[in-house]
Amino acid sequence: MNESEITGIVAELPKAELHLHLEGSIAPETAVQLARRHGVEITPAEVARRYRSPDFPGFLDAYKWVTSFLREPQDYALIADELFARLAAQNVVYAEITLSTSVMLRRNQDVGASFAALAQAAGRANAAGLRIQWIFDTARQFGPEAALETARWAARLAPQGVVAFGVGGDELALSAANLRPAYELARAAGLRAVAHAGEIGPPQAIREAVDTLGAERIGHGIAAALDPALMDRLAADGVTLEICPTSNLRTGALARQFGPEAARLDRHPLKSFFDRGLRVALSTDDPAMFETDLLAEYGVAARLGLTAPEIAHLAEMSFHAALLPEPDRQSYLARFRKQAREFGLL
Ligand code: HPA
Ligand code: ZN
Repeated sequence: MNESEITGIVAELPKAELHLHLEGSIAPETAVQLARRHGVEITPAEVARRYRSPDFPGFLDAYKWVTSFLREPQDYALIADELFARLAAQNVVYAEITLSTSVMLRRNQDVGASFAALAQAAGRANAAGLRIQWIFDTARQFGPEAALETARWAARLAPQGVVAFGVGGDELALSAANLRPAYELARAAGLRAVAHAGEIGPPQAIREAVDTLGAERIGHGIAAALDPALMDRLAADGVTLEICPTSNLRTGALARQFGPEAARLDRHPLKSFFDRGLRVALSTDDPAMFETDLLAEYGVAARLGLTAPEIAHLAEMSFHAALLPEPDRQSYLARFRKQAREFGLL
């Protein structure tokens, strides 16, 4: 089967996406609309130009810039409704959405009010067959106190669909030990633990995320490709890597980890992780910023040489790694397998 036949089938399969930042999903036209609401005139071309950052610090700058137009609950509701419509159009039936809660807190926003608007948007998506759960994220560079405050909000809003606490932002800004109290607070409230690590940082950052923070899923973790013993350990322990190939190209993470000649999608370590038996959850990270969507990422997997049955296995792994109650996971898996069998993939 060729790439377009494979993505044609993947388009029909019910899918899960687990590493997806709400604020990275703002289409250029929507950013223009949001800016105008707040008295700022920008153009779609300017947004697109900023989204095409040359390197990781440039990416963080663009993220900070676009989030500056998110000020009111209705701003959050707008981008959530648009994201959920795009996910539903790709047959995504379950998504965990990361909210940059520490950015909201840093801007003195009312997290409770904006999250109430987001929970309503999630309710609308649910009625249309797309289930949403939330991950509250703290930016590493904001420090340990911001992490604690973000974890407190995550704990408070757990009854409204927040299932995990995570850390993103500048991976090199702060070591994991500083974040431990926040992760402990979150865990004590029944939340699960995820962390961006080994995106631009070294393999050791992945070890610390697992050992010090108790992360059960790692955002990116591509640095593991540099450390065979770590890959084997992650495989043995069932730690999932949330792999976002286009993101790694566009943020410069591939070049940083593997050298300038490796800054190509066909050099992404996804297939070597897959072949080694690691758990992988294919995702888009910031789809509007990187001009991608989940189907395009499956297309990358096909170009890397995964066969159609392997692609089906890859898509199934996202349901295995989802932070769902076990009976719900099993019903998604049953539905997925039935469809995949009908397409002759299992
Ligand atoms: N890494 C770090 N910070 C981020 C990311 C990411 O992939 N996406 C949004 N903020
Ligand atoms: Zn991310």
